[in-house]
Order: sequence, then structure tokens, then C-alpha cells
Amino acid sequence: MQNNDNLQGGEPLLEVRGLKKYFTVDTNFFGKPIKFLKAVDGISFSVDKGKTLGIVGESGCGKSTMGRSLLRLYDGVQGEIIFHGKDINKYSNRQFDAIRPNLQMIFQDPYASLSPRLTVGEIIGESARQHGIVDRAHYHEYILHVMDMCGLQPHYFERYPHEFSGGQRQRICIARALALKPELVVCDEPVSALDVSIQAQVINMLIDLRQSLGLTYIFISHDLSVVKHISDEVGVMYLGNIVEYGSKADIFGETLHPYTRALFSAVPVPNPHVKMNRIMLKGDIPSPVNPPSGCKFHTRCEQCMDLCREIPPEYREVKPGHYCACHLYNSKEDTERLYAEKAEAQRLEEEKRKAREAKPLYKFKAAVIDKPVTAVKGAVLSTIDKIKNRKDKSAKDDKPADGDSGNEE
Ligand SMILES: Nc1ncnc2c1ncn2[C@@H]1O[C@H](COP(=O)(O)OP(=O)(O)O)[C@@H](O)[C@H]1O
Ligand code: SF4
Ligand SMILES: [Mg+2]
Repeated sequence: MQNNDNLQGGEPLLEVRGLKKYFTVDTNFFGKPIKFLKAVDGISFSVDKGKTLGIVGESGCGKSTMGRSLLRLYDGVQGEIIFHGKDINKYSNRQFDAIRPNLQMIFQDPYASLSPRLTVGEIIGESARQHGIVDRAHYHEYILHVMDMCGLQPHYFERYPHEFSGGQRQRICIARALALKPELVVCDEPVSALDVSIQAQVINMLIDLRQSLGLTYIFISHDLSVVKHISDEVGVMYLGNIVEYGSKADIFGETLHPYTRALFSAVPVPNPHVKMNRIMLKGDIPSPVNPPSGCKFHTRCEQCMDLCREIPPEYREVKPGHYCACHLYNSKEDTERLYAEKAEAQRLEEEKRKAREAKPLYKFKAAVIDKPVTAVKGAVLSTIDKIKNRKDKSAKDDKPADGDSGNEE
């Protein structure tokens, strides 16, 4: 699958179409990028207001890059990011700054994302004050209210982040994001760095806050049980693409994609009488710099067919609201069409190549560049030959003839 361009219905707060973020890994002599790491390679989805979209996938499949791209934390993000009906990826920096409070992110590491020099009150309130969310007169009262929502005691206001545990620090991060009154919050593995005992508390707090504040979440995690608990809909990512998308019930109850099945089979079942049928994934996730041809998952898929190695599967609605990119769900006509399209694309490519070679630039190159190069090469070689012949001849001349002593006098 290259582009997940079919969209889901509903009244979306956020609609993403063909999102791509490529990192440059190599440039030519002139600094022009020539090799890319395709961290996010054409993703489309939508999230309705008040809902949670869970994103799962192995480490390195592009989850964080996707989340950060939505919030324009990178340059060079391609595709449409339609928020409240407007493509914010086309906004100038000034336009985007005006709506920035509305889109917030909670990061995985609560230790790295808090300034050690600021008090908790300053950390939570600084951006809210800068963006004019609250006026000076109500500032203190407002920040205490946000702290209370996030389970932070009022006397923490004057304390510093290093005085708190991981769970409390993550609550500070959440309060900082919510103080800006966002509508959309991207939560990037917000509990992965916390103790298991604390994780449930923070997740339940996020669920309560979503309900009370009408928030919309994109919840990124590699922990399937957490995603199952919090999400309404789930997208499964593999090597920069969404390979399966649907409601939580569909994804967990009627799994379609072999990759999703393999991921789910690895989750331990808390019942000693239930036999686990674990599907072992072959090898590691391939490099996004050189992804496999055809279906990117074919190198690890137990059900791989010849077609999978050659042609990327289409991302299509297999059942109502349940999308999947896998050739297993092709009809006979789909497969025939895909082969025909591939043959046509190859024919066009061949035609283009021939047309390129017939272009005046190529003739000019052949006439002006290739010929002189060939001529110079020929001249150099013949000069080398001449020198060699001359040397051989003089060596022969210097050699005394048979029976000649070499002394003529
Ligand atoms: N700033 C960057 N520069 C180059 N490559 C990056 C950068 N950030 C992430 N990547 C690469 O992009 C791919 C996806 O990374 P990431 O989005 O962090 O995955 P995940 O969050 O699913 O673990 C990885 O191969 C990673 O090495
Ligand atoms: S069956 Fe083919 S298309 Fe489907 S996931 Fe496996 S390799 Fe990919
Ligand atoms: Mg990540």
C-alpha cells in the first residue's frame, strides 16, 4: 500500500490525507537530497470530535513522526491536515501560531520535557499566559483549577519538577497541555515510561478529562491492552503506513491483516487454561530507507503470495468502516486489474525512457560531451601506445646483435 486515500465517514474534527514525512539520509555533491527515510509514507484517516483514535505498531514504524507531523513540529511535511475544515499544513507560521494552543501533544518522557528551572505553576501557566488564554487577574486561580483537574495538590504550585515521581511529572505535562484549552491532544506513549501501577491511574484520568472537557485524542502506544482500553477506533501502522483501521470492536474482534493478527497473538492471556497461538514474526522490521517491494510486510508474512512481492496492496474498505491493505481480500477482478495496471505502468515507463533518450539534450550530450570524451580517451590511449612502441623499439636497438660483443671499436 502506498496511499491510504479512502476516508472514513462521520463529522471529523481532524482529517488527514496522504500525510508524508521523509527524512533525508544522503545528499549529492551539490547538497540535493538523493536518499530518503520514509518514516510516514502516505497516511489518511479522520477523527471525530470527542473520540479517541489509537495508533499501534512496533517501535520504528513511524507513530511518533506521524503525531509530530500533525502538529507541524517538522518542516517538509506533505499532505493535507484538515482541522475544522481548513488545511493547516498550508498555513503560514504566523497563521499556525494562532491555532497552536488548540492542538497539543503529551510526550513519552516526562523527565525530559519539563524545565528544571521553572516551578510547577510556571510550567503549567507560562504558555497559557503567552497565548492570552487567561488574564493576569485570574491567572493563579485558573492554574490551580487546571492542577486540580489533573490531580495535582495546590501546594505543588511553588515546587520544582525534580521533587516529583514519574506519574506526578506526567500529570504536570498533561496539565500544561490542557491549560491551553486544546480540542485535539496527541498523546505519544504517555504512560510507557511509568510504573505499571501508575499507568492505569493516568489512563483513567485521561479518559475522565476527555469526557469532562470534550477532548479528542490521538493515542499512540505499542501496548495493545492500553489502546484497547482507551480507544474508540484503532489504526495499525507498519513501516510508515496504516495497514488496518476500524472500530475497536472490529480491530480486536474481527482482525483482518496478518500483521495485526501477529501483534495480537503476542499479547499474554491472563488465563493459564487458554493456549496461546502465537504467530512469530520473521526477523526485524525492515529499514524504511529500503522498504521491501510490493507489500512492505511481505518479508515477514506467513501468508505471502507471489502478487505480494510485486504489487503494493490497496487500502480499501473490506467491511463497512473496516479498512485493510492486504491482497488476501482482493476479488479475482481486483487482482487482474492490479496486474493490468502494473503492466501499463511498466509500458509507460519504457515509453518515457525511450522519449528521454531521444530528447535533444541526450543527442547534445552524445555529440558534445560523449564524443569529445571518446576522442580524448582515444588520443590518450594512442599516445600511450606510441610511447610504449618507441620504448620497445629503442630497447631493441640498444640490444646487441647475436655474436656482437657490443664493443665496435
Ligand atoms: N529526526 C529524524 N531523523 C531521521 N530519522 C528519523 C528521525 N526521527 C525518526 N526517524 C526515523 O523514522 C522512523 C520512525 O521513527 P518513529 O516515528 O520514532 O517511530 P515509532 O514512534 O513508531 O517508534 C525510524 O526509522 C526512525 O529512526
Ligand atoms: S498476504 Fe500479502 S498483502 Fe497481505 S499482508 Fe501478507 S504479504 Fe502483505
Ligand atoms: Mg515513538
